[in-house]
Amino acid sequence: MGTKIGQKLFWAVGAVVTLVAFNNCGEGFIMSSVSGGSAYFSTASGETCEEAIVKVYANTFHPFLAQTCSGCHITDGPGLGVFGSQDVKTSYVAFAAVGAAKISSQAVNASHKPPYTGPANQARITEINTYWSAAQEKYAECLVETGVTAPSSAVKSASVTVPANLATTTAFQTMTFDLAAATPSTPLTATIEIRRAVVGGVTQGYEFRNPSLRLKNTSSGSYQVQMITIHANDVLASEVTTYQNVNAVISTTAATNLSAGTANALLVMTPNTTDKIALEFATLRSTSATNPTPTPTATATASPTASPTNVTFSQLVASGGVFTNSCVSCHAPGKASGGLDLTNYAAARLAAANIKSRMNNANNPMPTSGILAEAQRNIVNSWVDNGAPQ
Ligand code: HEC
Ligand code: HEC
Repeated sequence: MGTKIGQKLFWAVGAVVTLVAFNNCGEGFIMSSVSGGSAYFSTASGETCEEAIVKVYANTFHPFLAQTCSGCHITDGPGLGVFGSQDVKTSYVAFAAVGAAKISSQAVNASHKPPYTGPANQARITEINTYWSAAQEKYAECLVETGVTAPSSAVKSASVTVPANLATTTAFQTMTFDLAAATPSTPLTATIEIRRAVVGGVTQGYEFRNPSLRLKNTSSGSYQVQMITIHANDVLASEVTTYQNVNAVISTTAATNLSAGTANALLVMTPNTTDKIALEFATLRSTSATNPTPTPTATATASPTASPTNVTFSQLVASGGVFTNSCVSCHAPGKASGGLDLTNYAAARLAAANIKSRMNNANNPMPTSGILAEAQRNIVNSWVDNGAPQ
């Protein structure tokens, strides 16, 4: 039966709470009615990992959300997050920011927005999650495999026991992970805030927020990270998708917050004081060796021809350019976040004023992970100020 994988994941991290229980062995509900039989993750036709997972999304969560939640969770609608959008990619970006677990738990929550939400959705949500969990495992493997280009691609911390007082308080506590002790050893320190998740007075698992990375005090260098997965008791919590859209460069000893949005990640399980959490970062690699950005060191050497006033679109999208390094993981065909494709000159030029304003707005920054270093912003600023030449 098709529910095996979901069951394994949830049982492995403790007794299942009924919220997202995998106990419906397909009775009366057939996934092919949702998926046309194509819910499986596959890169066999040359899809990128991202394209493959969006395809699974298009056959699992998307039809459900676009049908059931579209009354409110759409652009300018009253709901929080536009995952009810009819457009698959718009819906997916919003879905990834909130996470499968939280969406699933609200979908079956009778006190969210009945009759749209409630136990009537349980069978369908269970079925969808069966396929989604399996696909998430493959997606994580795919990212790790395709990211193997540099010394390290996936770095998993050692497991750390949850803070002892989680049982007695619901305040967030910080857990710290030393990645120098990880394999491969990486001179970074990671943190994440954790608390016991209480929904409607009942403990439902753990909530996470504000994952961060920083260089260890005595270290230098620059590291790019694209995704965080959470492991509970050494099992990948594949339903927690909140931090799969990260794209950040870590180059200081000040903590960089890696959360793309404000949603907390929810891990449904029965907490135990002996639970252990580990964080895995993929693709995590050193970018210092290749010195990726055309930095204004050229200006500093007083060479007028190399000044940022000559910046062209081609430079921004070349290997090592600012758009390439910091934007196209989200703003490219097939990912077009906010509808914006930054590999397309016409589109980038049209959005030039917005690009400058978002890149320099610390309260609503692009990239979403935080405002870039001044040197990088200046490159783009001068491109915009100069009429956004090709
Ligand atoms: C009648 C309007 C309405 C409908 C229908 C609706 N929602 Fe919501 N939803 C809201 C509103 C308003 C909020 C923000 C305030 C709140 O949490 O109640 C919200 C918040 C949420 C959140 C929290 C988002 C976050 O970032 O923390 C989730 C998850 C969610 N809804 C899921 C769903 C799902 C899944 C469905 C469909 C099965 C759905 N909602 C249907 C109005 C709606
Ligand atoms: C982690 C994903 C991610 C990264 C990386 C990212 N963006 Fe975005 N961007 C989004 C999302 C999601 C939206 C839509 C929501 C919003 O506006 O906040 C968006 C919206 C925008 C918009 C507004 C939409 C429009 O059409 O005007 C601009 C401009 C923008 N991004 C520019 C950039 C630039 C420039 C970079 C790199 C310096 C960048 N973004 C990096 C996810 C990302």
